[in-house]
Amino acid sequence: QPAPKLDVADGKQGFEHFMLKEIYEQGDVIERILNHYLDINGRQLNTGLQPGQSAAIEALNIVACGTSYYAACTARYWLESIAGIPTDTDLASEFRYRNRPMSSHTSNLFISQSGETADTLAALRYAKAIGCPCLSMNNVPTSTMALESDTILPTLAGPEIGVASTKAFMAQLTVLLLLSIDCARHNGSMDFDQELSLIKALHELPSLFHRQLLTQEPIIRLAQMMATSDHALFIGRGQAWPLAQEGALKLKEISYIHAEAYAAGELKHGPIALVDEQMPVVVIAPPDELQPKTLSNLREVASRGGKIILIADSQAIEASSEFITAAIPMPQVDPVLFPLLYTLPLQLLAYHVAKEKGLDIDKPRNLAKSVTVE
Ligand code: AGP
Repeated sequence: QPAPKLDVADGKQGFEHFMLKEIYEQGDVIERILNHYLDINGRQLNTGLQPGQSAAIEALNIVACGTSYYAACTARYWLESIAGIPTDTDLASEFRYRNRPMSSHTSNLFISQSGETADTLAALRYAKAIGCPCLSMNNVPTSTMALESDTILPTLAGPEIGVASTKAFMAQLTVLLLLSIDCARHNGSMDFDQELSLIKALHELPSLFHRQLLTQEPIIRLAQMMATSDHALFIGRGQAWPLAQEGALKLKEISYIHAEAYAAGELKHGPIALVDEQMPVVVIAPPDELQPKTLSNLREVASRGGKIILIADSQAIEASSEFITAAIPMPQVDPVLFPLLYTLPLQLLAYHVAKEKGLDIDKPRNLAKSVTVE
């Protein structure tokens, strides 16, 4: 039976949904960003900040909503551990109502794919009115936020049509990592060899994405199991925690399954009461120094009967085989890049669950691509 001829005139280029097309585009987006932010020799970063501006970033507060906020929470680990920059994150809808002490020593970065999100735009205007240093990271260069910002970090992901953000999130992470590297070089907390090694690993990421996209069967089978669930938990430690939040948001948004994310260390402080045989628990455990603790949390969940889905390296999956219901094996990559690589299975899981449920993946109920009201 030949594959159905999908209408290629609708801009989906043969993909069934814009979301899937945009997931597949992520490797190209990373390459485009590297070409834009690196000089011709691929050695010198040019983040578009004024000369010396990245060195002037003493502390940073990142303000955003939704998926863009989870990009900010993920980047905080890079900015602090790679560049030594104390970093805070704030939901845009909370930022300007908590009378946060603002200082000229703290730069504010506002992240918005659309550049039109009312809460984030209002937060930018609030910080500018106080006279704080403000940077914006947008995917639409003609957006209101871009036009009102004096320093912009473009994410270059191209138009993102699917309401559930995928390639824009990957682009935000990539640019935030480059910003962290740039700041690290300026404040001397990273040497050139480390910088080149990370940039080389970033160049290799698209081929790892490509390999992952060719082996979606484990995710499709897992989606068929999860499609009948009413609830799901996502857990992780370190940067896997904001990834867990992003994975839960993706699933909520397009499959309407009630999904919550917790820092894995928080389970025993209450959430583990939710675990029973009906509860799928997605455990994100890249092979970093926190993995043993996360795998210990996994065993706690298993002993309460939870249906565990482990996203990890093959060795960890083998070691946990008696406790898990399903697994998504991940290839090796420089640990700094775990957040980029481990985002892909979370996006694909949400996509295949929503597809299994026959839902409107590109235009989920109740949602808009850009929330232009507060
Ligand atoms: C992400 O999948 C959602 N569509 C939503 O959370 C989105 O990230 C949020 O509304 C922020 O949008 P922005 O990046 O355009 O400001």
